Amino acid sequence: MKIVVAGTGYVGLVTGVALAHIGHNVTCVDVDESKIEKMKKGISPIYEDGLEKLMKDNKNRLTYTTDCKNAYKDADVIFIGVGTPERADGSANLDYVYSVVSEISESLQKDCVVVIKSTVPIGTNDEIEKYLKDNVKKGLKVYVASNPEFLAQGTAIKDTFYASRIIVGTEDKKADEIMRKVYEPLTKPPYNVPYLSMNRKSAEMVKYASNDFLALKVSYINEIANFCEKVGANIEDVTLGMGYDPRIGSKFLKPGIGYGGSCFPKDTKALHWLSKELDTELKTIKACIEVNKIQKIKLYEKLKNDFKSLKGLNVAVLGLTFKPGTDDMREAPSIDNVLLLLDSGANVKAYDPIGVENFKRVIKNKIVDDGITGNINYFNSIDDAIKDTDAVMIMTEWPEIVNYDIKKFEKLMKTPMVYDGRNCYKLEEISKTKIEYKSIGR
Ligand code: UGA
Repeated sequence: MKIVVAGTGYVGLVTGVALAHIGHNVTCVDVDESKIEKMKKGISPIYEDGLEKLMKDNKNRLTYTTDCKNAYKDADVIFIGVGTPERADGSANLDYVYSVVSEISESLQKDCVVVIKSTVPIGTNDEIEKYLKDNVKKGLKVYVASNPEFLAQGTAIKDTFYASRIIVGTEDKKADEIMRKVYEPLTKPPYNVPYLSMNRKSAEMVKYASNDFLALKVSYINEIANFCEKVGANIEDVTLGMGYDPRIGSKFLKPGIGYGGSCFPKDTKALHWLSKELDTELKTIKACIEVNKIQKIKLYEKLKNDFKSLKGLNVAVLGLTFKPGTDDMREAPSIDNVLLLLDSGANVKAYDPIGVENFKRVIKNKIVDDGITGNINYFNSIDDAIKDTDAVMIMTEWPEIVNYDIKKFEKLMKTPMVYDGRNCYKLEEISKTKIEYKSIGR
């Protein structure tokens, strides 16, 4: 079976490499020449633990190319894993998906299953199938299957091999048979991943309903954490107590400064937008989005409350990525907080073990767009970043930050004021120091 994967971002590349690992010959296609050149040399264009090793281990079954038409023409199965970024109104931008679909329709020379892995609004798979049927060479059979992705960045490899489930939505038995064949190795030991077939709209809906439920869980616990601060409860004890109930579960109950990344913000807004379009607004999702917007700047507000003016204040920002284990900066709360700090006249000293280069790119554009001037410097170590600062803000729970010797806050900072947006340290340990410490819900 010849498999092609269009798009070599987190979803596309991980899918392609995983399919090669379970025995398929896979061609990974991307329009970005420099990414393809890197991958040909065995270098992953994204930071994802274990990915580069898998690329090397399976290099005999992996081909990388920008020549998409040649790749598509004789493919049995084509996975589309390109981005569906959010438009200004919150809806999903399907331009990249349709550009691939159009190239497929012009190239196909044999029957093929086109698999949509990108997260797309309900009904898109049906529209794509109609487009393909109307536009491929006469006599060819082309099926469309919805196969949403559930991997999380930082654990993408494990999430793919030991997925909680494989969801395949098709309206056609033949397409389902082919998809079962593609995934057969993953449904057997040692992986034993459950394979669920359903119609395309339900498969599309599983993806949105899952991501939005998880985002809602995070927004819920963040609001409860804020309330704990008001009433004098400790969110860690509260979530511990809640998590013992198997109906609730203990996962995704970690409070913080809001969810970020390329998925939750986009998928909550896209489903909310669609619900409004269909005149059945999803009010829980609306609330989830609003709570997250407020939560993202909670830490900045705590800092602002404590200092009369932030002008000239030296503030270290520890952690820039939206979560640990990734270099992804999309919708990271650090961006909003750093912009507010700079706008208030503070000097920012930033540290992140992986994400500095990506952060610099994002913040440069934002500073220009928003007309903000300000002083931001980057450091390779936490020690250097916090030296002589008036305050520290923790944005990401990187192990380097969680395991940092807290005594150094006292030793190196001008005044040891620590604002921890990820509850990295035990209150008991902090109480043994002179650190003035504010965290979330405790
Ligand atoms: C998310 C989903 O978890 C994946 O299942 C899904 O496949 C993926 O989106 C996608 O649609 O592609 P990801 O965005 O990589 O994965 O990140 P998560 O680990 O889910 O975290 C999202 C955000 O929620 C992060 O900012 C994280 O800090 C925050 N979070 C998560 C919390 O604040 N508390 C928690 O308890 C869990």
